[in-house]
Parts: sequence; C-alpha cells; structure tokens
Amino acid sequence: MAREIHSVGVVGLGTMGAGIAEVAARNGLTVVGVEVDDLCVARAREHIGNSTERAVAGGKFDAGERDALLRRITFTTDLRDLADVDLVVEAIPESLELKASVFTALEQVCRPEVILASNTSSLSVTEIGVHTGRPGKVVGVHFFNPAPVQKLVEIVRTVVTEPDVVADVEAFARRLGKEPVVIGDRAGFIANALLFGYLNHAASMYESRYASREDLDAAMRFGCGYPMGPLALLDLIGLDTAYEILETMYRQSRNRLHAPTPVLKQMITAGLLGRKSGRGFYTYD
Ligand code: CAA
Repeated sequence: MAREIHSVGVVGLGTMGAGIAEVAARNGLTVVGVEVDDLCVARAREHIGNSTERAVAGGKFDAGERDALLRRITFTTDLRDLADVDLVVEAIPESLELKASVFTALEQVCRPEVILASNTSSLSVTEIGVHTGRPGKVVGVHFFNPAPVQKLVEIVRTVVTEPDVVADVEAFARRLGKEPVVIGDRAGFIANALLFGYLNHAASMYESRYASREDLDAAMRFGCGYPMGPLALLDLIGLDTAYEILETMYRQSRNRLHAPTPVLKQMITAGLLGRKSGRGFYTYD
C-alpha cells in the first residue's frame, strides 16, 4: 500500500532546499525545514518570503494563500524535530562526507518506513544510501532551479531502492505539480549530463573572448528559444555548484566536454559565484 505523505522534512534550506520547502508547503504539506544555525534559518525565511512575493506579484496565488503556505513551514536547527515527518528531502551542499553524516543521523531519528531522499545533482545516491541501515529506502529526488517554477524532478533509483519507494516518490512529485522522470544512478542523471557540456563550452567561448557574454547569451535565447543564455544560467545555478557538478561528471566519465573550463575556478576563487554572491558573469543588485 502506498505511503501517505502529509509532512516533509527538508534538510538544508539554501537555494534548492528553500525552493523545495516552498513548493511542498504550497501543495498543502506540512514542512519542517532544518538548517545549521539561526542565521541560515533567517536567510531561508527571507528567500522563501521573496520567492512567494514574486509569485503573488505574478498572480500565481494571492496574499492569503501565501500566508497559509508560510504557516505550513516550521524551521529548526535540530534534526530530531524530523521524528514525525513522512518523508525527508536532503538538500545540503554537495559533499559526500556531509551527506553521509546527515543520512546516518536521519536513520536514528526517522521511523523505519520513512523514505530518505537526496536532492544531490551529481553525487552517487548509492554511496549516500550505504551510510544508513535502510539503503532500500534511499532515493534521489533532483529538483531544478528555481524549484517552485521548474517542472522536472529526476527520481534516481539505485540497484537497491525498493520499487514501492520509487512509486511513492513519483506520486509525491506529481502531488507537487511536477513531472517526474526515473533514471539509474549515474553522475549528471539526464538533464545535467546533457546540459553541462553546453554550459562549459559557453564558459570556454567566453574565456577565449570568442564572443561577448551578451552575444553568447543572446544567440541561445533568440536563436534557440532558451529562456536564458548559458552564462546567465551559470550565474543562476552558482559557479561553485556548476564546477562541482562538472568535476564529478568528468571524474566519472573522463569525457572532455565535462572538464571544467579554467575560468570557472578562477571566478570562484575570486568570489564571483553568480547571483548568490552578487556577481558572476554579470553583476546583480
Ligand atoms: N512560485 C510559483 N511561480 C513563480 C514563483 C514562485 N515562487 N516565482 C516566479 N514564478 C513564476 C512567475 O510568476 C512567472 O510566471 P509566468 O511565466 O506565467 O508569468 C515565471 O515563474 C517566471 O518568473 P519570473 O517572471 O520572475 O522570471 P523570468 O520570466 O525572468 O524567468 C526563470 C526566470 C524561471 C529562471 C527562466 O529564465 C528559466 O526558466 N530559466 C532557465 C532555468 C533553468 O534552466 N534551470 C535549470 C538549471 S540546472 C539545475 O537546476 C540542475 C542543477 O542540478 C544545478
């Protein structure tokens, strides 16, 4: 019998986690969001406040619905507050060591039947799962940025993920208004494996001064109908995140398309991470 999912724990409320918390609360679920400290909680509240404000301004829902959405989210810095949730989505930074320690802790806190899902975009879900005593209940649920807007969720099954877990997570994604696709555990899954070679190539064209950033972006927007050009998209994703994804895929496949273009590392070292730091290929207010 399918699991009833009424409440969700979201661990890590950065860009992706905050977006996932928002979309779950918008669809009637109770959300417990976990961050490491009060400063990060305040940042997550602000992120969700701004995002829902944009949605109200864009006519997606009204102020009353926004207030109800916000009331469905509680924030905590204690993982033990996830003891009663029906499903957990982890969205902390892309470090296997960090994720392993969170999953080991979740295993102690959550009921045995609870699904432990990771929003990882490039790490191995199998490797994350073996750090729990219930790898069959571990699955990838990979959302896209901005999570409240992008329809795709990639569901990543490992060789030991139980079929009912995959089915329940697909139903969960549909309940959030998303389009799930199911894939095996390979770096980049579907979308990033196809997308990041293109983004990396654009960064390399920019680096060699082949074309200006505006012209590179304009070509893909006006020539191919993409909603934003590749350099603007790298800024949205975050250059540090993009670099980690490329590096992981390159390590796994040795495909030169994914060997990170040097300018990415240089920009990261200089603190130009994209929108989140106020400057990347472009500058933001
Ligand atoms: N909830 C619901 N809807 C919202 C919302 C929210 N919180 N915030 C904004 N929206 C709606 C707006 O109302 C608007 O709706 P309409 O189109 O019906 O008017 C729509 O979302 C677009 O929002 P904006 O007008 O604020 O912004 P925009 O038109 O400039 O679009 C964008 C911004 C959605 C980011 C668009 O440019 C886009 O889709 N870009 C491509 C993004 C992309 O490729 N993402 C994937 C990155 S890869 C990744 O994420 C994987 C990984 O692992 C890193």
